[in-house]
Amino acid sequence: MPNKISAVGVLTSGGDCPGLNAVIRAITKTLEPEDVEVFGFTAGFTGLIENRYVKLDDKMTSGLLTVGGTILRTSRNKPHKMPTADGGTRDMTGAAIENYHRLGLDALICLGGGGTQKNAHRLMKEGGINVITCPKTIDNDVWGTDVTFGFDTGMSIATEAIDRLHTTASSHHRVMVVDIMGHNSGWLALGAGLAGGADVILIPEIPYDLDVVGRSLLARMKRGKMFSIVAVAEGAHSIDEARRIAEEAAGEKKKEKALKKELQHTKEPVSAILAEHLEEVTGLETRVTSLGYLQRGGVPTPFDRMLCTNYGVRAAKFALDGVYGVMVGKHGEDYLPIPLDDVVTKKRLVPLDHPWVLSARAVATCLGDEIPHGYKG
Ligand code: F6P
Repeated sequence: MPNKISAVGVLTSGGDCPGLNAVIRAITKTLEPEDVEVFGFTAGFTGLIENRYVKLDDKMTSGLLTVGGTILRTSRNKPHKMPTADGGTRDMTGAAIENYHRLGLDALICLGGGGTQKNAHRLMKEGGINVITCPKTIDNDVWGTDVTFGFDTGMSIATEAIDRLHTTASSHHRVMVVDIMGHNSGWLALGAGLAGGADVILIPEIPYDLDVVGRSLLARMKRGKMFSIVAVAEGAHSIDEARRIAEEAAGEKKKEKALKKELQHTKEPVSAILAEHLEEVTGLETRVTSLGYLQRGGVPTPFDRMLCTNYGVRAAKFALDGVYGVMVGKHGEDYLPIPLDDVVTKKRLVPLDHPWVLSARAVATCLGDEIPHGYKG
């Protein structure tokens, strides 16, 4: 029989997304009837380090199911690298651990993406804190779960944007390049591109050949398709860039990651490079729409509301049952405790044989590496 718990901390960390409040609501509604106090730390791990929190109860969380963002606010701060006034960083892990024990917490539930999983894992290893996490991000790149919460809403927003771009592209006989978030993964661009019927979808997992993209659009034009939609993930890069990174990194994963990050910050946005080239090659006017933070705003979809409620309830149940050091992972209809030791060592990128990739190719979508079948010749 697990020990009776009396107090649990909750925090939201990393990029926000619709659904965070729905998880907070589910956790609180599940724990309050069990006489468990819920401490909501503000601004991610910063709140835990600075002992800033609000007490969460049914009154505080009622009506949150459909409210975007997070009532606790968030930050990207890491306990072991907290920003200091002089522009440096300081390890404040000790303060986090001290406050956790001072408040008499039995567990800490962290809602976040890959970075948050790592921060929670570090607090567990270095401070023996009982952590439970839920996988949050519109990028859908957290390993150990079928889908992260926030992804469905982000994909719905991006899909609706592509739907709207279709009508204006066809009215003007234009090429519309739509820049979609996703950090270093292509799930959001691939999902929205497929759902929105984009003619080209470029993702980081499949380095693109500018010439192939141009020739695909020309092939469409030969068949009378005088407008095109190009969905491009913000982390997409060309074959040449991929080759340079591979050569410079020489197989060192850490160096490859650093080079990709540097590339993302130094080069012109991939959407701009594409637009310039495609206008030149096709002779069609080309315009860029960057969806940016629209993909992280507003009301969560019904799917995400369901997902968030399940994630939150399961995280609370794990706390009640003394199941710690885990992330709640959705596997089919089950929500399982996935060891954080496993989660933090992997990223979940789009497999090249994923059904979404195969379907995109089957419906003659150009993925940047070859001219779609049916357009060849
Ligand atoms: O991780 C979610 C995300 O929206 C990414 O898709 C994007 O690259 C990043 O956050 C933007 O970070 P910030 O909100 O710090 O600008």
